[in-house]
Formats: sequence, C-alpha cells, structure tokens
Amino acid sequence: MQVYQDKQGLQAAIVGLKKKSKIVGLVPTMGALHEGHLSLVEQAHQVCDAIVVSIFVNPTQFNNASDLEKYPRTLEDDLALLEKNYKNLIIFAPQENEIYGEEITSEKFNFGNLAFQMEGKFRDGHFDGVGTILKRLFDIVRPDKAFFGEKDFQQLLIVKKLVQLTQQEVEVIGCPISRENNGLARSSRNKRLTATEIEKAGFIYEILKKAEKKFGTKDALLVKQEMEEHFKNSQDFLDLEYFEISDAETLKPISEGFDHRKKYRAFVAAYANDVRLIDNIALN
Ligand code: PAF
Repeated sequence: MQVYQDKQGLQAAIVGLKKKSKIVGLVPTMGALHEGHLSLVEQAHQVCDAIVVSIFVNPTQFNNASDLEKYPRTLEDDLALLEKNYKNLIIFAPQENEIYGEEITSEKFNFGNLAFQMEGKFRDGHFDGVGTILKRLFDIVRPDKAFFGEKDFQQLLIVKKLVQLTQQEVEVIGCPISRENNGLARSSRNKRLTATEIEKAGFIYEILKKAEKKFGTKDALLVKQEMEEHFKNSQDFLDLEYFEISDAETLKPISEGFDHRKKYRAFVAAYANDVRLIDNIALN
C-alpha cells in the first residue's frame, strides 16, 4: 500500500499508471472507514486496475462547527483496515493546507434544484463544500471512475451534475447502500452510537421499508404523513428532521398521485442524540 500526503507524490504514481493505460478508480472518503467503504473499494476492484482511496475530513462541507469537530478521525485504524483487506491500494491522506492552501473556503456551484432540496435545505453550503473538494480531488487524481454510496443519494446526483458543469472526464458510479444487520445504513457517524443506540436507530430502515410497501397503494402525500406520524408516535429516540418522497432524478418532492414512468425514492434525515443520520430507499 502506498500512502501519500502530498499531491506531487500521488500524481507521480498516477502518471506511471496512466502511461501503462491502467484504469484508475477513486474512492473518496472522510475516513472512519467501515464495511460500507470496503464495499465501494470492492466495486472499484471489479472494474479498475488501480484504486486511490482518499481520506480527508473536508471542512467546507460542514455547516456546523461542532459536527466537524466531533467527526471521527481514525487514520491509523483506517490504514490498518485497508491494508488488511487489500494489498495494492494507493492512499491519499492530505492535510487541509495541501487541498486549500491558506483559504479554507468553498467555490460556488450552480447545481440548480438538486441543491435546494433536503440536505441542501438543512445544511447550508454543504453541497458547495462537497463540490469544492471533489472538483479538487478529481483534478489531482484524474480518475477514470469514481465510486459513491447511494446512502448519500442526493450527493451522488450532485456529483454527476458537478462533472457535467466542470467537464471533468470521470465516470461517476453509484453503489448500493451497505447496512448493519438491523438495516441501519452504515455510516462513519455510527461510530458515535452505542450498540443499543444502533439497535434503536434501525427504526429508520423499518420506516423506509414500510413506505416502500405502502407506496402506490394510496396517495403518496398520505404515505409521507403516515411515516412522519410513526416517527413521532412509535419511538422516542430519533428526532425526525425530514421524511420526503421525491422524484429520483430531479429530487422534486412528490405532489398528489405519481407518474408511473418516473422513479421515486423516500428519504429520511433524523437525529440520534446529536448524531445526524440519513438514509433512503427506492420505492418503484
Ligand atoms: O460522502 C463523503 O464521505 C464525502 O461527502 C466525500 C464524498 C468524501 C467528500 O468529502
């Protein structure tokens, strides 16, 4: 495993690979790695000759200083986990100044409607921060393919839009959500939950499965309302921020009825104490 903190060293290694016409994949992460990340590396392995895993807690995508401060940073464990599972990975684990220099600020992007829904509504500036780091990572690594989990489905659509806007030549690949035994979507933030809390947070997936079952049997707005009520009345651990049923392409929230030609997904954001969890599911 090769570990680089500087762009120059990393880029020299990548130039060598490109000269040999190797397909380079990028798995961007913020560390605190878990099986979900390994599943992204696994997918990358199927279709790439060389894989770069970036580990960088990106400050500009946090709209809340305490969330950034509490975000788990476990670089040594992350490297050990990757080393144990894969022999030939290239790791890029830069410091903030390697990416941002003296000015830790976001560029502004026009992601259109995609950025105004759900995460965009509740996390001001989040997607500009995500766009900023990914544009820079794509420029540094020049990957042929980049891999993202569908847990952050809105992010996945934003990244596809980013690549269009910036005309970067990278194929963006969405990968299935990796889940705990009780269905809770795997997330680095789960490291801040106890085993009991993880058990209780499985309620999010229960609700998504319920919504999937109900979708199409009655008006979608009633399904949404019912799920919101379940959150309020069936448990007192999770604090719901939003439950939304939206067009899976535009992310516009559904109005009455639905168009059978379109794909829809249900999306949830909820707090487990001060840990913010998100998840989603395809409904049709
Ligand atoms: O999904 C994440 O972990 C982050 O948003 C990403 C894509 C690594 C950018 O910092």
